[in-house]
Amino acid sequence: MDGDNDVCVLQRRLAEAGQSHLLQFWEELSVAEQQELLMDLKDMDLKELSQAFQRAMMGSGHLPGQENVDARMEPVPREALGSATRDESQLPAWEEEGLRHISQSKVAVLLLAGGQGTRLGVSYPKGMYDVGLPSHKTLFQIQAERILKLQQVAEKQYGLECVIPWYIMTSGRTMESTKEFFLKHKYFGLKKENVVFFHQGMLPAMDFDGKILLEEKGKISMAPDGNGGLYQALRAHHIVEDMEQRGIGSIHVYCVDNILVKVADPRFIGFCIHKGADCGAKVVEKTNPTEPVGVVCQVGGVYQVVEYSEISLATAQKRSHDGRLLFNAGNIANHYFTMEFLKDIVNVYEPRLQHHVAQKKIPYIDVATGKYLKPDKPNGIKMEKFVFDIFQFAKKFVVYEVLREDEFSPLKNADSQNGKDNPTTARHALMSLHHCWVLNAGGHFVDENGTRLPAIPRLKDANDSPIQCEISPLISYGGEGLEKLVKDKEFHAPLLIDRSGVHELVKNGTTGSL
Ligand code: UD1
Repeated sequence: MDGDNDVCVLQRRLAEAGQSHLLQFWEELSVAEQQELLMDLKDMDLKELSQAFQRAMMGSGHLPGQENVDARMEPVPREALGSATRDESQLPAWEEEGLRHISQSKVAVLLLAGGQGTRLGVSYPKGMYDVGLPSHKTLFQIQAERILKLQQVAEKQYGLECVIPWYIMTSGRTMESTKEFFLKHKYFGLKKENVVFFHQGMLPAMDFDGKILLEEKGKISMAPDGNGGLYQALRAHHIVEDMEQRGIGSIHVYCVDNILVKVADPRFIGFCIHKGADCGAKVVEKTNPTEPVGVVCQVGGVYQVVEYSEISLATAQKRSHDGRLLFNAGNIANHYFTMEFLKDIVNVYEPRLQHHVAQKKIPYIDVATGKYLKPDKPNGIKMEKFVFDIFQFAKKFVVYEVLREDEFSPLKNADSQNGKDNPTTARHALMSLHHCWVLNAGGHFVDENGTRLPAIPRLKDANDSPIQCEISPLISYGGEGLEKLVKDKEFHAPLLIDRSGVHELVKNGTTGSL
């Protein structure tokens, strides 16, 4: 009887919210399917959802007569900018400051890994992807080993045993596989208690009139609520309390897909601390107007990232008098927050964040016919919050520019899709950087006749084949400490330097240790 009651209540709630179609196929569902649908809908705040939809559509620029945000964009002012190249003389001081905080266990890293990896087209979490390096390490392993190495570097420099706790946000769908992967690989050498998993929320997909779409007759089409779902998730899973208990003062937030990410980068952290900032963003110079990166800028006097999907081509193409793009602060999704700022966001500002609207082709069940349809043009929206939307609340915001070839090569697409941001370009970017590290440390590469190869470390194009060279993060975090292994020595590629030694990987797959 209770069940009948539940259904009646739900029918009424759905009718009030204009979502009655969700029970259109109720009679065709099995008891188990009915229960599942009931559970999904029971927890959904339909009123809030409808308000979020209205607000998101109003602010989306998708409605007729709406002003585009790019009309009000202004570039980042010089005084907020630091640069790994222009401010080179300051780097040692920033690095030292960052390392000092790391050595006192005051720095945490927070990984955003709740995305669905749709463009890459894999059914498992992106962090588990192997781009085909000589070592076949996955993105998760590379990041874990950078954390391990940095702990060691800080410990060595300051003589203090330290921990960089790693908070990993997954989605409900990827949580179990992510946890299993870490367990299987023994947390890649990190201590289990210092790797904290939590998951973000989900939101239903809707058509342009705000009607929730069905993925199956008894199943709502749901997607993660964007990487800005982070803040609600931090609150829901008491993560901020965990950070406070550990005495964390600075948090480095980053995205899973950048193979070159400098996790907990001491220079970036030191720069932000040195500037007294409560929030910061790392950027690379955007040189191609259509590159799919957001740009850090000011809108109406406050900091913001305007996403590549939200800027007009005309604005993206604007140039300043020196010929560079006017909006060239390309967001590489590496953010800095102080603990105080993060607490304010989670406890005070989060409810003020609006959802962004992404128009998508969403497969759905047509309620009139019961047929499953795959649209060939956008038929609905997904609502997402973005992690950087809290920049507007910062009291002091800073921007740190780094070189793309040192720090940014994201894995977004499959190799088959196009020539950009795919496993090949990610692999090449890492090997090209590591080749450069060997050259900088005084090593040389020779061809099969023993002739030295010209020292052209950088690739002109990410699709060029680099000299194959991989250095384990456990050996070097950012190119340091390699002299003793490579100075004045000659190597044949492929070269792999890891904890077991320096290996020339000869072509037939066997390993020649040097
Ligand atoms: C993101 C940035 C963009 C930047 C680009 C650089 C955002 C909103 N956009 O764009 O400004 O220039 O990276 O590569 O940050 N994620 C979640 N939950 C979600 C959705 C995504 O955790 O619901 C995570 C993903 O796992 C990934 C990261 O957020 O680690 C970025 O997601 P993705 O969809 O790849 O962002 P882009 O559109 O490429």
